[in-house]
Amino acid sequence: MRDLHTYFFNRWGVTKAVDGVSFSLREGETLGIVGESGCGKTMTALSLLRLIPKPAARIVSGEIILDGEDIVPKSEKEMRKVRGRKISMILQDPQTSLNPVFTIGNQLSEALGIHQRSDRKDMINRAINALRNVRVAAPESRLDDFPHQMSGGMKQRVIGAIAISSSPKLIIADEPTTALDVTIQLQYLRLLKDIQAETGLAIIFITHDFGIVARMCDRVAVMYAGRIVEDADVRDLFNKPSHPYTQALMASVPQMDRTDRLFAIEGQPPALYALPEGCRFADRCPHVRDICRREYPPKIDIDTDHMTHCWMFDSAWKDQPEESASSQQAVE
Ligand SMILES: Nc1ncnc2c1ncn2[C@@H]1O[C@H](COP(=O)(O)OP(=O)(O)O)[C@@H](O)[C@H]1O
Ligand code: SF4
Ligand SMILES: [Mg+2]
Repeated sequence: MRDLHTYFFNRWGVTKAVDGVSFSLREGETLGIVGESGCGKTMTALSLLRLIPKPAARIVSGEIILDGEDIVPKSEKEMRKVRGRKISMILQDPQTSLNPVFTIGNQLSEALGIHQRSDRKDMINRAINALRNVRVAAPESRLDDFPHQMSGGMKQRVIGAIAISSSPKLIIADEPTTALDVTIQLQYLRLLKDIQAETGLAIIFITHDFGIVARMCDRVAVMYAGRIVEDADVRDLFNKPSHPYTQALMASVPQMDRTDRLFAIEGQPPALYALPEGCRFADRCPHVRDICRREYPPKIDIDTDHMTHCWMFDSAWKDQPEESASSQQAVE
């Protein structure tokens, strides 16, 4: 993804949900995208699939190069070949991703694209195989089950089976585990990693959970208010979290009674329809100086595979005066 901008246009103005996001992903690699609710993670994923809500949202500019080809200009017809075959998505809520009125066998064969042309025996065998691939025990006995007859973990596996049934190159898992208990979460994540080891699949994990990132990801992109503020190899990020927002995320404790905002960081991110000129984290940052409010921080390479956007790492930082009283007041 190169400098992608996906905006919502509505009565109130322009909401910059994805505002200049760039990252790359190699075969077999797992990228974690982390950040508070509302920062643009899902819209980044939906942009990759070109499934953003229409007509309110539009990819305004940028490129998404998949196998050397930009998919942003592709027609809807061409995109249908990309979705499923090249990129698959596992949706946020596993409980609602399966259709309650069809059997598991039906939904699998639909996904396998074999519902009409192939004979019944072939269909059953392929559906059984798909379940076996996601380690469902006694798969033949499961085909006639309806979703409500299965546990959450089992449903998650079926969704996984559907997502990998067309051998995509990239799977996007958007908060895949929030509705599952911890043991089942880990089993499921291990399963995805196994499948990755067998197939060379690339994975994008979208999550609030740094624990999942540490276990699952090779690289991490930290998103804040529509932009990636830090991107690093997972070990580098944990050893040396650099952006003050990343540090705050790591230091914060999940609030179990709040499902809308898991992180307890003081203050709010700016509204995506009224973004400031300078650093978007300035209102919440303990290190803020005048320059932070004046100009968006440049990209700084901290290491070979570690970048951040923060003025503190710029050579000009040491000469910057502390934030003046007038701008302090403006914050209050
Ligand atoms: N259907 C929508 N209509 C208008 N704005 C939306 C819609 N969905 C998302 N947005 C805007 O896009 C921003 C990013 O949303 P999203 O990508 O879903 O965040 P995340 O997945 O990080 O929680 C939201 O903060 C909101 O301002
Ligand atoms: S640029 Fe300034 S305000 Fe933004 S995170 Fe860095 S120090 Fe804080
Ligand atoms: Mg989301």
